[in-house]
Amino acid sequence: MFPYRNEDLRDTPLGTDRAAFSCGQADLDEYFCRHHIDDDVKRGVTRAYVLTNTTGGLIGYYTLSNYAIARTLLSSSLERKVGYEVVPAILLGRLAIQTPLHKQGVGRLLLFRAQVRAVDASRQCAARVLIVDTVDDHARNFYKRNDFQKLKGDSEQYFLDLKWIEKRLGAAAQ
Ligand SMILES: CC(C)(COP(=O)(O)OP(=O)(O)OC[C@H]1O[C@@H](n2cnc3c(N)ncnc32)[C@H](O)[C@@H]1OP(=O)(O)O)[C@@H](O)C(=O)NCCC(=O)NCCS
Repeated sequence: MFPYRNEDLRDTPLGTDRAAFSCGQADLDEYFCRHHIDDDVKRGVTRAYVLTNTTGGLIGYYTLSNYAIARTLLSSSLERKVGYEVVPAILLGRLAIQTPLHKQGVGRLLLFRAQVRAVDASRQCAARVLIVDTVDDHARNFYKRNDFQKLKGDSEQYFLDLKWIEKRLGAAAQ
């Protein structure tokens, strides 16, 4: 059974008790639980979004930052469209869900919320692509199944055209 709908999730301040958070990736747990995330937010290099359910149960988090990417790393079709050598972007640096909630569509829901926020930000300050960092094959498969394409070269980053996301969100809202 699908555990949550979009309207069941709440954006929650970073101050929420995070000690017991576990997503199965030690680096991502440590970043969140040991408050490195707070340091990055204080430094102004990332924004953090923490999600709970309606009773305050911690579900997951994601982070967004402004970013830029060399045009030559994009797909050939997008490379031709963007015009400049350096393309404005938004980085979804981290996204993690509590382990007991895995494989029930919650990751896709958080990704959807991150995409809505990224499109919104790109309307205020242009960004053409959403970039994601991937830690392992599981994460790469997750993003591939959600339409992301690998950047060219040796990078383990994937991307999605924000204009394409915007159109798809527009179509979904009608
Ligand atoms: C990557 C991650 C966010 C995915 O979260 P998730 O909630 O498991 O993702 P989803 O449930 O949306 O999709 C995962 C799988 O569950 C399946 N699924 C989704 N809803 C389902 C349902 N109702 N019933 C059964 N299976 C379902 C999806 O089809 C997908 O299946 P597949 O792996 O066989 O293709 C999560 O595994 C995680 O937090 N990992 C550790 C951190 C990490 O690697 N982050 C990404 C890089 S920073």
